[in-house]
Amino acid sequence: MRLGSVIFGVVVWVLIATQALAADKVIIEPPAAGSISPEQGLQAWSRVYEVASHPRCANCHTGASDKPMWSGPSYGTTRAHGMNIRAGNSRIGAETLLCSTCHTTLVTTGTDDNRVPHAAPRVAAPWMLAPVDAHWFGKSSVEICEQLRDPERNGGRTDIEIAEHLNHDVILHWAWNPGGGRESAPYSLQEHVNDILAWGAAGFPCPS
Ligand code: HEC
Ligand code: HEC
Repeated sequence: MRLGSVIFGVVVWVLIATQALAADKVIIEPPAAGSISPEQGLQAWSRVYEVASHPRCANCHTGASDKPMWSGPSYGTTRAHGMNIRAGNSRIGAETLLCSTCHTTLVTTGTDDNRVPHAAPRVAAPWMLAPVDAHWFGKSSVEICEQLRDPERNGGRTDIEIAEHLNHDVILHWAWNPGGGRESAPYSLQEHVNDILAWGAAGFPCPS
């Protein structure tokens, strides 16, 4: 009898846990090769660019400047991160002041994590600046397009690997649900993944 209820409890818990995961799950379904025209590929790219250049993404993709940016409607003016923050070669501020001093790492991600406006955003992963090569802030559509399709500068990834990376990265789940009065990145994570895959299936066309 007791064993029965323990097993029942475990089964219910597993069902709830897998449902919670499923809600967040992104489906990676690459379109068949040749099914996306170059024009459709370029349209998908222009939406990818809207996302990449949005403050929720570009504020961390600031290249060799070493400085995260504060930009977007919630900041009013565009400026470098206050308090003279530098990411350093470590990209986590190990050389000066660790990002995690303020952007503390959460154990799990909830809906209420970043309610307070102007507090340091927190996610269930170490907060850090993007690699120097992935410099998007202030860059044009062509520049970002050429960087992102170049395995030498995109972390050696194919379009499917970029899509998988986007799915697993909890920072991105934050970018589409930032809280604290911050504007979300455009479209949705699923639409962004679909656009990356469509762009890849069309042969990674870039605007000229
Ligand atoms: C002394 C505390 C502190 C440290 C250390 C710190 N930050 Fe921040 N950071 C903040 C606060 C506070 C905000 C939010 C400011 C606001 O919304 O007005 C912020 C916001 C940001 C944003 C903007 C997010 C967005 O899109 O709204 C980025 C990017 C960022 N920090 C990156 C970093 C990185 C990378 C490091 C380490 C190299 C770092 N921060 C270290 C306090 C800190
Ligand atoms: C808190 C800072 C931060 C924010 C905000 C952020 N990124 Fe990143 N991004 C990173 C870091 C760190 C890496 C390197 C991680 C890795 O390679 O595993 C990265 C790597 C990437 C890559 C791998 C490609 C490459 O050229 O290396 C892609 C794609 C990417 N980010 C997309 C996005 C998108 C899209 C958004 C917004 C929806 C975003 N990022 C927002 C920090 C950030």
